[in-house]
Amino acid sequence: MKQYLEHHPWKIIEPGFDSENQLLSESIFSLGNGYMGQRANFEEEYSGETLQGNYMAGVYYPDKTVVGWWKIGYPEYFAKVLNSTNWLGIDIKVDGQVLDLAKCRVEKFQRILNMKEGYLSREFIAEFSNGNRLKVNACRFISMARPEIAAIRYSVKALNFEGKLEITPYLDGDVINQDANYGEKFWDQVAGDINDGRGYLLLKTKKLDFHICTAMDCQIRKNGQELRPDLDKIKNEKYIANKYFLDIQQNDEVTLFKYIASTSSRYYQVGELIAETSCQSRKAAELGFDNLLAEQSAAWGEIWQKSDIKIEGDTAAQQGIRFNIFQLNQTYTGEDERLNIGPKGFTGEKYGGSTYWDTEGFCLPFYLSTADQSVAKNLLLYRYRHLEKAQENAARLGFSGGAALYPMVTMNGEESHNEWEITFEEIHRNGAIAYAIYNYVNYTGDYSYLADYGLEVLIAIARFWAQRVNYSEKKNKYVILGVTGPNEYENNVNNNWYTNRIAVWTLEYTLEVMDYLKQEYPESLAKFKEKVSFKPEEINKWHDIINKMYYPIDEEEGIFLQQDNYLDKEQLLVSELVKKELPLNQHWSWDRILRSCFLKQADVLQGLYFLEDKYDLETIRRNFRFYEARTVHESSLSPSVHAVLAARIGDYQKAYEMYLRTSRLDLDNYNNDTEDGCHITSMAGTWLAIVQGFGGLRIRDNTLILNPFLPEKWSSYSFKINYRGALVNIMVGLEGLTIQNESKNDIEIKVYDKEYHLAGDGQLKIKDYKQG
Ligand code: BGC
Repeated sequence: MKQYLEHHPWKIIEPGFDSENQLLSESIFSLGNGYMGQRANFEEEYSGETLQGNYMAGVYYPDKTVVGWWKIGYPEYFAKVLNSTNWLGIDIKVDGQVLDLAKCRVEKFQRILNMKEGYLSREFIAEFSNGNRLKVNACRFISMARPEIAAIRYSVKALNFEGKLEITPYLDGDVINQDANYGEKFWDQVAGDINDGRGYLLLKTKKLDFHICTAMDCQIRKNGQELRPDLDKIKNEKYIANKYFLDIQQNDEVTLFKYIASTSSRYYQVGELIAETSCQSRKAAELGFDNLLAEQSAAWGEIWQKSDIKIEGDTAAQQGIRFNIFQLNQTYTGEDERLNIGPKGFTGEKYGGSTYWDTEGFCLPFYLSTADQSVAKNLLLYRYRHLEKAQENAARLGFSGGAALYPMVTMNGEESHNEWEITFEEIHRNGAIAYAIYNYVNYTGDYSYLADYGLEVLIAIARFWAQRVNYSEKKNKYVILGVTGPNEYENNVNNNWYTNRIAVWTLEYTLEVMDYLKQEYPESLAKFKEKVSFKPEEINKWHDIINKMYYPIDEEEGIFLQQDNYLDKEQLLVSELVKKELPLNQHWSWDRILRSCFLKQADVLQGLYFLEDKYDLETIRRNFRFYEARTVHESSLSPSVHAVLAARIGDYQKAYEMYLRTSRLDLDNYNNDTEDGCHITSMAGTWLAIVQGFGGLRIRDNTLILNPFLPEKWSSYSFKINYRGALVNIMVGLEGLTIQNESKNDIEIKVYDKEYHLAGDGQLKIKDYKQG
């Protein structure tokens, strides 16, 4: 844990420079716009510890797998989000001395991420070894209004000297991925050119032929006046630059504007890239920094209008939730159904931009409620488009007849992860993908999705479960053996309750959807059945599994057992652990972790979270008490599920504690790993903690349900949701609840079990509220 950032409702502020925090800050201050993103590396040279990162969504590298002991079924490659052309760089030299914060004396350093308007700024004074003092002011953003554009304004002021200044803005494609398996470089140059103030680089990946073109357009001003200083044009392999030479007097301020365009062959023909990119960067330069920044601010204004959560009475919590919402919006905008949400988004390499079950399990509700319906639909379509690959994946592992096993980690639908206990065993991900279809339809009421796409995916997943179970003669039940549940601190277990339960739920839901389509969309049903060669016996088999599935339980404790024999483990509680041994994964041997009873994240509770309406409160409570006490939350996905369930059972203190843990996870570096990148997908969990946890939002039977409580420390909070064409603002405060319908559409709503009709533009005030 590390707390070095100032609290502020709309800004993340780093006061003072400490090189120890640089890797962390590079993650936290990252910028992105769904299309591209970047760690908060410095523009100028920095010889201290740094992880350079510039990423383009969907541009990846199939790095050849490294594995000690090859197992049949492993994928040939591990897909990596690709570090691509560094367009940030601006080298500064004063009288031959390099500006490098690892070498200069640094004063008055301040870095600010302005989340309201979407830009990053930094200022400091650097003193060189000869006593020259330079004041630097830098500001940059990646445009939300124009996805392929970014802009930098970089000013230097001579505080106490006159001398020779060199400013070198450049594009550098000679970059590496820190996690490259064989230390290889992944890019080749195709073309590059540099003229006066403008240039471009066109690069191509060594495999898969992704092309990226990056162009820069630069302008220089001295004391506000445009200038055309002498310059050198530098053109090396995968590198182009302009080196400007200026004489400066004391108090002169020189400002460089660097406009960037970056495009890829994912959106254009290769032959068009240079012209398109150069044209875009020129256009950005014509528009100018201030206009682009005004657009940026307006675009973020619109995003906040739909997705902001306001908290009064707790600035740390306010900053935490806004940071989470900001990063989620920077990572995924939902316009391109081929893209998805990587656990680290654009903030680091580890887990990179690959897709995990995190999307369906955690992120979908955030986008459902805060963005246009098409955004969540695109997340589902992403998996729909990968269905064939999931079927091939299952076939490779020995399944047949159209059964699909979606990958645990993917860039393009193919499995790209190779730890057997995850790749082969964490099959529960299939359940989350099916559940997401339910979640989407339940929320939006878009039943046509089932008729157009959903059922096909459901049938393929159901077929997988029907083959993955086996019938135990001994138990007279179906069992699922050799799996890893969501709790990755335990592998190759039998009858993981969550997996068995989500498998049966998928079968039940698939049957339900088939019944529904039979009534409402008979032609679609017939079309699907024919397409997938559906056999009536399949239904019988599914019913049989539903009726005869085995679930491990312990009558005495009154709980579902995480897996067979879970209670044989030495039963210890997290409260009994020595604090300095946490996190366990950084202190205990893996063997000790596997044998222990400790859980990395919600497992049985994950099931109770998804299927909450099927269990009574007492059952949820007993399981929650039992498992929460044994959970170390070493997956960032964990606290949010606990927060929602704690609120459900009325343990508001616990819900709040869990919320705090998730909301400032990166800002306070709770898990001691934010330097690798921020935990983007778990940020959606933070949103869930407030909206589903504190707000008690549920959608059941086409009714919006709210059951809010106000955390003791807060004087009020409010959140907005986009629900079936209505924008609803829910405010919970010391005076009670106010629910404002900010749209023209009427909605049915149930608050604390009482039903209301909320007309378009209408307001509902309820004096009562619960406090926790
Ligand atoms: C968690 C997984 C998750 C992955 C990516 C792991 O630590 O255990 O459930 O999918 O991180 O976020």
